[in-house]
Amino acid sequence: MNHHVVGRAQGRGTSLADQDEAQLGGPTSVLVRQKREHIRLDHLLNELAQTSGAEQDRVLSRIYRLVFPHAFAEESVLWPVIRRVLPDGEALTLQVEEEHQEVNELVTRLDGEALDPAERRELLGRLVTVLREDVRDEEDALLPSLQQQLSERQLRQLGVAWELVRRTAPTRPHPVVSRRPPGNALAALPLTVLDNLRDLCAVAAHRAPRSAPTLNNVSHSLARAAGQVERIGALRRGERDLTSVENR
Ligand SMILES: [Fe+2]
Ligand SMILES: [Fe+2]
Repeated sequence: MNHHVVGRAQGRGTSLADQDEAQLGGPTSVLVRQKREHIRLDHLLNELAQTSGAEQDRVLSRIYRLVFPHAFAEESVLWPVIRRVLPDGEALTLQVEEEHQEVNELVTRLDGEALDPAERRELLGRLVTVLREDVRDEEDALLPSLQQQLSERQLRQLGVAWELVRRTAPTRPHPVVSRRPPGNALAALPLTVLDNLRDLCAVAAHRAPRSAPTLNNVSHSLARAAGQVERIGALRRGERDLTSVENR
C-alpha cells in the first residue's frame, strides 16, 4: 500500500499541490481558485525577499490586496461549510482562523508603528512564515478533506460563492472584527468601501507625490472610521475566544 492510499484511508485525501485542474473539479472549482491564488502568493512572497524600501512596500501592498479578501471569503464561505460536513471541522478551521488572526495583527503592527529595521525584518519574517503555513494547512489538510465530502458540482458552486465574496471583501487587516459569521459578514460592506477608498488614496498619492500629505490625512481618517466600524458590537459576534482580540 502506498502512502497516498494510507492518507485516503485516514480521510485526509491528496494535497491540492499533487492534483491537476481536472482532478480538482475544473477551472471554476473552489479548489482550483484557491490553488491559483496560493501560487500567486508564493511568487509575491519570493519577490518580497528580493526587494527593499519603497519597492518592497509596493510588493507588500499587493500581498495585502491578495491575502485579505482571500482569507475573508474563506472565513465567511468555506469554513462554515467545512464545519458542517467534517467531524473535525471545528478544530481544523480554528487553527487556520488563528493563523489569519496572527496575519491581521502582524500587518496592523507593520502598518501602524514606527519600526526600527530589525523589528520590521522580524515582523516580515514571521508574516511570511505564517502565510506559508496557512497555505500548507489548507492545501494538505482542510481542502482535501472538503474535497472528499463534496461532489465536483458542489465544489464549482462553492467556487462561485467564494469568488463573489472575495471580490467584495475588505482589502486590509481588521483584527478586531469576528473571524466568523455573522459578525464578519455584517462588517464586510462598510469595511470594503472604506478599504477601497484608502487603496485609492494610496494609488493617488503614489501618482501625485505633491498631494501625498493630504491624501495620507484622508487615508488616516478613513482608517479611524474603519476602526469605529470594527468595534460595533454586532460585528464581533460569532467569534471563538482564541481569535478574539478582547479576550487576550
Ligand atoms: Fe487559501
Ligand atoms: Fe487562508
